[in-house]
Amino acid sequence: MENPAEEIKKRLDIVDFIGSFITLKKSGRNFKALCPFHQEKTPSFIVSPERQIWHCFGACSEGGDVIKFLMKWENISFFEALKELAQKTGVRLTKITFEDKIWKKKERFFTMNYLASEFFEYILHKTSYGLKALDYLKGRKINISTTKKFSLGYAPQSWDSLLKFLKRKQYEEEEILENGLIVKGERDNFYDRFRGRLIFPIKDARDNIIGFSGRIFEEKEKEAKYINTPETPIYHKRESLFGINLAKEAIKAEKNVFIVEGEFDVISPFQYGFSNFVAVKGSTLTREQLMVLKRYTDRITLALDKDAAGEEAIKRGMEEAERLEFETRVVIFDYAKDPDEAVIKDQIKFKKTLNKSVTIYDFLINASVKKYPYDDPFSKKKIADEVVPAISKITNPIIQSYYVKKVARILDVTEVSLEKLMKKIKQKNKQSSREFFIRKRGEKNSREIILEKYILSLIFQDKNPFKLADVVFSILEPTDFLLPSYQQICQVFLDFK
Ligand code: CTP
Ligand code: MN
Repeated sequence: MENPAEEIKKRLDIVDFIGSFITLKKSGRNFKALCPFHQEKTPSFIVSPERQIWHCFGACSEGGDVIKFLMKWENISFFEALKELAQKTGVRLTKITFEDKIWKKKERFFTMNYLASEFFEYILHKTSYGLKALDYLKGRKINISTTKKFSLGYAPQSWDSLLKFLKRKQYEEEEILENGLIVKGERDNFYDRFRGRLIFPIKDARDNIIGFSGRIFEEKEKEAKYINTPETPIYHKRESLFGINLAKEAIKAEKNVFIVEGEFDVISPFQYGFSNFVAVKGSTLTREQLMVLKRYTDRITLALDKDAAGEEAIKRGMEEAERLEFETRVVIFDYAKDPDEAVIKDQIKFKKTLNKSVTIYDFLINASVKKYPYDDPFSKKKIADEVVPAISKITNPIIQSYYVKKVARILDVTEVSLEKLMKKIKQKNKQSSREFFIRKRGEKNSREIILEKYILSLIFQDKNPFKLADVVFSILEPTDFLLPSYQQICQVFLDFK
């Protein structure tokens, strides 16, 4: 094959390809969407089927072909994207004619992690050091084949057994350190990061081991229950989803993914045949994780611990999910502390609960009504204060109107009053970003004027000045500018529309 990149592009239609990540709407000869690479309210992301390219006319002002799109979407190098697309399209990469240093380093780190994982597995299954850990897993009802499926292991209680092992495999201390497997001590000595812990390799969707987490199981210790690989060239917490390698096919087939908090909340359901589960490892669902999931599904279901109801973290994750056009649902196990406990206790009840998921909006409404059950105007106001901000952010008008109706009915108020409230909330949001900006602007001084000049020159120099002006003047008024001449320029932009 002469040029694999060209061959891939021949075989892959850009509209189909990008359309499998985000919703594209036909607009004349092109397709349009909200740019997935920055936050925006009006679509400035264009895909041209004729030229087989994409371009963002908004804040990114970037563009390219399918390969460039995947590079940005997954934050990977050219060669990684090429490799993934070659696999997808059946293009063979026989002779690699170019060097990719970043990729080479990543490959070396993946291999290092793979060797480390084999080492931990060996200790768990084949040595007496692993006995207690095996016992612990047994106590948690995890059987051997599940243990192997997730490549669980045990890091022995030793300062340097892994370090020595990796050195024998020709790895240097510096790179083992950079890969997060060892730690540098105060006297510049090195020691193993994971010691005396049950080990969970964390893999990406392509089965590469990107990092590890380790759990203590003798609770007498005062150490953290879990420790994790720090940020490394291959481990980025914000993008990682524990279990995605085993779950991705089931996610596609079920058109849904259950998002849980911990490793065991993935492993135990998997053992009982519930295989579309991934864990965010105790943190908020990030935009990056959602972008990984978007490759497989448009629907996510948060399977939360009982105590998590109505948490801020859920609301934050929900906003990102709404922006990326996910349908977000929620299930709660009322008979157990978390999904791990729930599935072990009762698989039939577990399955029933999964089938009883509700939309995130119904979940918020129900939680709020439960919190303020009284039939008086002040309780109703409190409910409205909790749920209306979320409803005002729904992008789909049909769904939004459905919930406006529903909340109006529950509160026994008119839809018009809710719409007024939504408008007020939107204005307040605009007002607060404006105030933020103005506060930042501080004192009247020459620095201010330089900044204003800078804003205006950014607008003028942009490929699409009116578009950028739109963004700027959705926050600022012309009178916010200090010099009358600047105010006039702003006004010209506003009048032109
Ligand atoms: N976690 C972490 N670091 C910690 C504590 C927790 O990374 N110090 C992550 C782990 O991925 C863990 C998840 O958060 O699985 C949930 O933690 P926790 O609520 O403590 O889980 P439990 O259900 O109590 O613990 P387990 O199921 O492991 O017994
Ligand atoms: Mn648990």
